[in-house]
Amino acid sequence: MLLKRQYITMLKLFNTNRLITPVLNKCNHSTAAKSVTAVKINGTEFISDEYTNVTPKIMSYLGKNLHLRKDNPLSMVRQRIVQYFYKSFTHRGNPTFSVYDNLSPIVTTKQNFDDLLIPADHPSRAKADCYYINKDTLFRAHMTAHQSELLRSGLNNFLMIGDVYRRDEIDSTHFPVFHQVDAVRSQRRDELFPNHPDLDIFEPTFYKQKPHLFTNTILDPTKQSCYTLEATKLMEVQLKNHLIGLVQALFGKDIKYRWVDAYFPFTHPSWELEIYYENDWLEVLGCGIVRNEILLNSGLNDTIAYAFGLGLERLAMALYKIPDIRLMWSEDSGFLSQFHNKDLNAKITYKPVSVFPQCVNDISFWLPDNFTIDTFMSNDFYDLVRDIGGDIIEQVKLKDKFVHPKTKKHSLCFSIVYRHLERTLTQAEVNQIHKAIETAIVTAFNVTIR
Ligand code: DAH
Repeated sequence: MLLKRQYITMLKLFNTNRLITPVLNKCNHSTAAKSVTAVKINGTEFISDEYTNVTPKIMSYLGKNLHLRKDNPLSMVRQRIVQYFYKSFTHRGNPTFSVYDNLSPIVTTKQNFDDLLIPADHPSRAKADCYYINKDTLFRAHMTAHQSELLRSGLNNFLMIGDVYRRDEIDSTHFPVFHQVDAVRSQRRDELFPNHPDLDIFEPTFYKQKPHLFTNTILDPTKQSCYTLEATKLMEVQLKNHLIGLVQALFGKDIKYRWVDAYFPFTHPSWELEIYYENDWLEVLGCGIVRNEILLNSGLNDTIAYAFGLGLERLAMALYKIPDIRLMWSEDSGFLSQFHNKDLNAKITYKPVSVFPQCVNDISFWLPDNFTIDTFMSNDFYDLVRDIGGDIIEQVKLKDKFVHPKTKKHSLCFSIVYRHLERTLTQAEVNQIHKAIETAIVTAFNVTIR
């Protein structure tokens, strides 16, 4: 979930509070799921523009706060992670890390991208991958969006936990809303090397030139040019130990893991941690040494910091053997009761309440002239399917593509897998929804059903 998502793998980029009330002034599917003209949040009205692509369906997830709900598995994993950090790090009897789990998911592009040194032309900013309210405002795509503001407010060690939003394909491990824990731990020279007054965290040239005259580079794969190798390595060792400690606290001492070199615009060096789970390597988090530019811009000129971000769904699915990500949203007592009043550290294995049958219907259409398979915005299509079908859409997969030899028109065929988590769907009701999807895509994308 976390980093395997399309653009993340490609580029290695990578609580709602009760006060948020979405107000939909106008819904119009003829503009390809770009249906909101004004959104009111905490009394603030956002005017839509050519970037607006947030859908009513997506807005309906605001304020759900699964990560804070008592019997939700995501909330249990959250509590175990918080507990681990509270127990492992204390300062004069107080927890070192402070926890922010109720930050508004509506953020600016500055918070989500600019503050994190994500270049203006970086593809992770694409409309095809994010839910924009307008060109300056979006539903956060990762919890790292809050890193700079919390640093600026004077915090040194903190966890940020909440819901994040990304446009993506549909299957059993992908949902457009999921949950992350992101963290920063920063240290000054005296904290990192308390017994070594001779060791420094900065290269001497960095001091001599004053930070604003020094260009920090990431050309050396082992470290940023402003930091010493000793400081970088010690932070790396601490970071890795703390995170291995975390996965061992969750999965047990015998969990097999490996570190993989990675790239993120906001850290250098960067790594991903994978655990061996059900005969395969599963990526569970991204991390690294925070780019010094971010710290300087936040007013910190004497620190080195590490950061990491992990996805709660992935961990919860692996820990409790939950086969489908949509179950996290289930209100069904058959699901929730399995997590009700359980000891946080109890070993829980999810038992399917019952498995209801799937219904698979195909949808084939010709794209309009001038459209090719590559220029067709499939994430727009997925959003529209989910807008109409709701949570009974289990999967949408491309089945076939074809270019007509004479007309050169492009045709696509998708299989839509329908399944209700709590009851059997009849073919007749599926056909009705399928028909509604056909009608909507004809209007939205000007396609011709085959
Ligand atoms: N924000 C990244 C993502 O969503 C994950 C991440 C990687 C967070 C490295 C971090 C970090 O804080 O240091 O894919």
